[in-house]
Amino acid sequence: ERADALPRDLVGRKLVISAGGTREPLDPVRFLGNRSSGKQGYALARLAAQRGADVTLIAGAVAGLTDPAAVDVVRVQTAAQMQDAVVKYAAGADAVIMSAAVADFRPTTLATTKIKKGAGEPDSIALTKNDDILAGLVEARTEGGLSAGTVIVGFAAETGDEHGDVLTYARAKLARKGCDLLVVNAVGDGKAFEVDNNDGWLLAADGSETALAHGSKSLMASRVLDALRPLLAPADR
Ligand code: CTP
Ligand code: CA
Repeated sequence: ERADALPRDLVGRKLVISAGGTREPLDPVRFLGNRSSGKQGYALARLAAQRGADVTLIAGAVAGLTDPAAVDVVRVQTAAQMQDAVVKYAAGADAVIMSAAVADFRPTTLATTKIKKGAGEPDSIALTKNDDILAGLVEARTEGGLSAGTVIVGFAAETGDEHGDVLTYARAKLARKGCDLLVVNAVGDGKAFEVDNNDGWLLAADGSETALAHGSKSLMASRVLDALRPLLAPADR
């Protein structure tokens, strides 16, 4: 899409968008990470800026992506650093979009020196749960620490299994997280359990569900922003 053909419907809006994967260090040279490329979050940030928003992109590990034009980029490594940055920039934002792949766990201890191979079999790695950034934002909004009008958007990649299909898991996740919109990608072998060819859904807290047929990350980003736009509080005048 040409930038000059896009709606300028986000002018004056402040958006915080997280992207990429977090890296949880084990020792000075090793980390636990994930395969998130950051492309979806970057596409969202680029399009939102083109539609006039004032965008802060909180970027974890991303696959050599070029920073989008006219976007403030804050770089982080760990889930804890991402949480600090998201919480800091969420204050005063109109919407927060959590497209980052945040590690659920981190190594419980961080070795200050490189872990040596040694002679015997290795120890297992003890893990500690990271805070859920998205759920924390929803809680802060409920308790008044975050403005009531802040729109909160989550992402989920789901597979179906013998206990339920993608939509069943996604609906449960939306309810558990309490966000306003959940962008669901159907991934992996579980897709075979699905009844149609859609690659995902946009689930809203009001119960509305929109199928998202396969498309580019840029097209997905447009659809997410289109769904987000009417949820934003009326602009100050
Ligand atoms: N998320 C977050 N903080 C975490 C983990 C996840 O903010 N510590 C956010 C992600 O950025 C995403 C949403 O929560 O927007 C859903 O992530 P997902 O991993 O699908 O949810 P989990 O609750 O971690 O459930 P699962 O057991 O399926 O991983
Ligand atoms: Ca997770």
